[in-house]
Amino acid sequence: MKRDKCTAILLAAGKGTRMESKIPKQFMNILDKPVLYYSLECFQNCVLINEVILVTAQEMLPYCEKHFSAQCGFTKVTHIIAGGSERYDSVYEGLKLCNEPDYVFIHDGARPFLTEEILLRGYEKVISTGACVAAVPSKDTIKLTDRNGLVRETPNRDEVWIVQTPQIFRYEVIRSAYDRLQTQDKTGITDDATVVEKMDNYPVFTYEGNYKNIKITTAEDLEIAEIFAQQLEKC
Ligand code: CTP
Ligand code: MG
Repeated sequence: MKRDKCTAILLAAGKGTRMESKIPKQFMNILDKPVLYYSLECFQNCVLINEVILVTAQEMLPYCEKHFSAQCGFTKVTHIIAGGSERYDSVYEGLKLCNEPDYVFIHDGARPFLTEEILLRGYEKVISTGACVAAVPSKDTIKLTDRNGLVRETPNRDEVWIVQTPQIFRYEVIRSAYDRLQTQDKTGITDDATVVEKMDNYPVFTYEGNYKNIKITTAEDLEIAEIFAQQLEKC
């Protein structure tokens, strides 16, 4: 039986403005390894994944070639390429290099605590749906406000999910949505599911992520990440 071809697009082209650090957050260390190392290692070790396209900033290409390439043992990394100025631009650069895979796993390099369990659950889900995103139930009540902070709406918490990555799609689904996006208004697009929802009205499902699958965004996230990484070392 033919095995599905699964390509990961690993995003590491952001500037990390909210972190306010000199180097982009995905290259800062947690314990003794860069943030990006952790998820790349997970993709490398997961049998499902055939190849990884690493997207980074133009000026970080030499650094990534030196530390995250096939020559360094990350044998699944087939391309290390420059991204664009917005996350959706970086994703599109990666998609254009995909060689007709069955499924594409799009993951934030700023989320180090990806696990094989998450990847397997997502794979199961995408087979039956064609489009799914890792998510966890919101523990907090969410309020929608206007620009002055006036509360407009309180969504029912049982229906509120915190969305993570990987966001996983059948290749044709995500490719056609991103192709269409290129001529459209891109305001408010912060993840890939939104592109699929908006461009093609395609149904997107959630699958079970993990509360530890945090995105490193501000300095306190790095403090939490250090604790999670210490726990990993003990395993
Ligand atoms: N990303 C990317 N290309 C961009 C912007 C973001 O590849 N032009 C990646 C980031 O490197 C990160 C992921 O997308 O792994 C999620 O983005 P985010 O957390 O917003 O990271 P940054 O854009 O770097 O941070 P900030 O928004 O604070 O500037
Ligand atoms: Mg950003």
